[in-house]
Amino acid sequence: MNATNEEMLVPRPVSDSQSEMAEIVLPNDANPLGALLGGRLMHWIDLAGAMAAHRHSRSYTVTASVDHIDFLVPVRVGDLVILKSSVNRVFRTSMEVGVKVFVENYIADTVQHVASAHLTFVAIDAKGNRTEVAPVIPETEEQRRRYEDAGHRREIRRAESERRKKK
Ligand SMILES: CC(C)(COP(=O)(O)OP(=O)(O)OC[C@H]1O[C@@H](n2cnc3c(N)ncnc32)[C@H](O)[C@@H]1OP(=O)(O)O)[C@@H](O)C(=O)NCCC(=O)NCCS
Repeated sequence: MNATNEEMLVPRPVSDSQSEMAEIVLPNDANPLGALLGGRLMHWIDLAGAMAAHRHSRSYTVTASVDHIDFLVPVRVGDLVILKSSVNRVFRTSMEVGVKVFVENYIADTVQHVASAHLTFVAIDAKGNRTEVAPVIPETEEQRRRYEDAGHRREIRRAESERRKKK
């Protein structure tokens, strides 16, 4: 039985959306020197972000935007890439998801931060119409900080979008 609209909009904690994805870097993911392609990592970031967005909104979603991504350390063939995602904040039909990427070298037993990204997903129904998303409840200090920061980032995105329209 499908959830009613009221049930769909019951606020949910950030922890309900927390997701983790892991990939071993294979030669097909890398350039001729054996370093992971940035585009492949962006694809994984999109997927990891979508997992959190789906889990929170319990609906289909589309990626509306991705904020800039810095690649902090190189990742090599054979490395284990871990992507952690969760919903930072819900607006109305859109939600900001944060994705943090780590590389684990299981031979050297090291873990390094590779990249972080903020993506906005919009919830849609089966007909492609935008749908409202349940509020998210930040429960820890870090989640509350991310919630606040997501509000500021939305303002920056909107200002940037207005600026581009005027060009
Ligand atoms: C994203 C999309 C649904 C927005 O549609 P739209 O008609 O511009 O909708 P609106 O301007 O009414 O905005 C709807 C919501 O999306 C948000 N939004 C729209 N464009 C955005 C952007 N570039 N970045 C972040 N949020 C955005 C709005 O803030 C609004 O959020 P809210 O309801 O929480 O306040 C539409 O542009 C789309 O379908 N794009 C293609 C998405 C896609 O195919 N992605 C896969 C990659 S190709």
